Amino acid sequence: MWGDNWFSCHPTLSYRRTMKTPSSHVKALPTTPLPMRQAPGTGLRFPTISLGLWQNFGDRSPEESARAVALRAWEAGIFHFDLANNYGPPGGAAEEFTGRFFTRDLPGRRNELLLSTKAGYRMHPGPYGEGGSRKYLISSLESSLRRLRTDYVDIFYSHRFDPTTPLEETLGALKTLVDQGKALSVGISSYSALRTREALDIAEAIDLKIAVHQSSYSLVNRWIEEPNNSGESVLSLASTAPYGVVAFSPLAQGLLTTKYLDGIPSDSRAANSPSFNPGYISAENLERIRALTSIAERRGMSLAQLAVAWCLRDKRVSSVLIGPRTVDQLDELLHAAYAPELDANDLQDIDVYARDGGVNLWASRSSDL
Ligand SMILES: NC(=O)c1ccc[n+]([C@@H]2O[C@H](COP(=O)([O-])OP(=O)(O)OC[C@H]3O[C@@H](n4cnc5c(N)ncnc54)[C@H](OP(=O)(O)O)[C@@H]3O)[C@@H](O)[C@H]2O)c1
Repeated sequence: MWGDNWFSCHPTLSYRRTMKTPSSHVKALPTTPLPMRQAPGTGLRFPTISLGLWQNFGDRSPEESARAVALRAWEAGIFHFDLANNYGPPGGAAEEFTGRFFTRDLPGRRNELLLSTKAGYRMHPGPYGEGGSRKYLISSLESSLRRLRTDYVDIFYSHRFDPTTPLEETLGALKTLVDQGKALSVGISSYSALRTREALDIAEAIDLKIAVHQSSYSLVNRWIEEPNNSGESVLSLASTAPYGVVAFSPLAQGLLTTKYLDGIPSDSRAANSPSFNPGYISAENLERIRALTSIAERRGMSLAQLAVAWCLRDKRVSSVLIGPRTVDQLDELLHAAYAPELDANDLQDIDVYARDGGVNLWASRSSDL
C-alpha cells in the first residue's frame, strides 16, 4: 500500500507550471487551478481533463518518459487517472506502472486521487478472461488492486456490454464490489443507449448508482449524440438518469492533430499500434482536419486544443480523457481546459466538418448487440 511520506519534499516535483514551449500554441498555463466538473447526482468531482493510461504507460514506453507525463499531469492539477485491467501493452502493465508511480512519486496522496479501472475486454485465456460475468469482474478487480497497490478504486467500470451474460449478473457484481468497499462508485463504458437504459433500470432495482458513462467522443465520432428508436442517446440519458459522461479518445487517437497531413510519422500511434487503422487517414478525414485546423487557428488554438475544448463545450461531459505520449503533448492539451467557450458562430463553422470519420474502433461494442 502507498506510504505516508510528504509528497512536497519530492525533488522531481519542483517544476510546477514551468514548461518548455514546443509550439506557438503552448504558453505558460494560468496559475488558477484546473477547472473541475461534478458528475450530476453524485459527489464525484473530476478535473475537466483527466489522464488515460491506455497505450503510453506499458512496457513499450520508457519508464522515465511515462513517469514524466504522469508527474506533469499531477503537477498541472489532473487528479483523475483512468486505467483498465488490460492497459499496457501487455495487459496489466499500465496498472503496474501506476502502482509503482504512486508509491514512489505520490506517497501519502491516495485520498486526493481519483483512480478508475475496468474489466470487460480479454485479459487472459478461457471463459473467465473477458466479458461481464460475476467471476471475471470480481476476480479482475482483485488483480487490479494488487497491481495498483491500493485497497480500493474510486470508479470501477464494466468496460463493455456482454451479450452472453445476463445484465443483472454484471450489475450485481458491481454492486457486490461497492458493498465490499473495493469500488466507491461504478460506471459503464461503451454501452449503447438501449443497453444503458436497461442497465439504469436494473441498477435502480438493486439500489446501485451508475455514476458515469465512459464513451468515445470526438469531432469525428459523435455517436453518443445520436438518438435510438426510443429517442434516447447516451448524452440525453446523461441529463435524465443522470450520470456524468467521461469522454475518451478526444483526438481520435491522434488523428485530430496535424501530424498525419504529410504521411505517418515513425513514432506515431498509426505506425506502432494495431488500434489505429491507417485507413482512418482517408482523403475525407484529411480534408476535415485541414478545415478544422484553420478554424482552430482563427481562434489562436491548435487543432488538438480545439478538439478537447469542443468535447468540453457540452456540460454533460464531466471530463475528457486524454492519452498523451509526451510531456509536450500534455502541456499543449492542458490549455484547452482554460480556453474561452466556443461561441455559436464557432460551433456552426465546426459542425460543417465535424462529421463521422469512420474512426470509432468501439462501434460494434456500442451497438445494441
Ligand atoms: N473505455 C474504453 O473502452 C476506452 C477506450 C480507449 C480509450 N479510453 C481511455 O481514454 C484515454 C485516451 O484515449 P486515447 O489515448 O485514444 O486518446 P487521444 O488523446 O485521442 O489519443 C492519444 C494520442 O494522441 C496523440 N496526441 C496526444 N496529444 C497530442 C498533441 N498535443 N499533439 C499531437 N499528438 C497528440 C498521441 O499520438 P502519438 O502516439 O501518435 O504521438 C497520443 O498517443 C485512454 O488512455 C483511456 O484511459 C477508454
